[in-house]
Amino acid sequence: MEVVYIKPWRCQICGETYLGSEAPDRCPYCGAEGENVKSAAYYLEYGKVEMSEQSRKDCLEALRLELNNEKFYEKCAEEAENQISRAIFKRLGKQEGEHAEVFEDMLGEEIELKEEVQIPDNDYDRFTEAHEHEKMAIDLYLAVARRAPEKRVKDVFRAISDVENEHLIMSNTFK
Ligand SMILES: [Fe+2]
Ligand SMILES: [Fe+2]
Repeated sequence: MEVVYIKPWRCQICGETYLGSEAPDRCPYCGAEGENVKSAAYYLEYGKVEMSEQSRKDCLEALRLELNNEKFYEKCAEEAENQISRAIFKRLGKQEGEHAEVFEDMLGEEIELKEEVQIPDNDYDRFTEAHEHEKMAIDLYLAVARRAPEKRVKDVFRAISDVENEHLIMSNTFK
């Protein structure tokens, strides 16, 4: 019998550990591309990042956006019209939650959303709104990746903008 060795892989963006015989295509937690998931032995702990005032503002805005999207997708999953849209909304919500944690770690603080999140009354309109949310996030994250002076901030925003791009494609495909 062939012996398969299970190894720990760790995502350099969200810090979560994946166990498997091979590295995953994408981080199963935050959705970051596989190149960000390395053998756990090479993992670098960044923790709170020293940042310029602008980057701090950008991270706070990103955190608010992620928390808002997490709530939005959670509600969409609760109200979903079928198992496929439910699965998609659930997965997107979980990934946005992971993204929020990444920004909290970088900032070294947490915030609480006060606003209630409203969702449209059917899946088609929910996917349409999801598309708008993701587009907004991508635009902001790419701008931050360009202007941030800190390498870690650039890397995180670039990796997460790529994930939001995946979300955008998903929200278009299943509409
Ligand atoms: Fe990750
Ligand atoms: Fe996100």
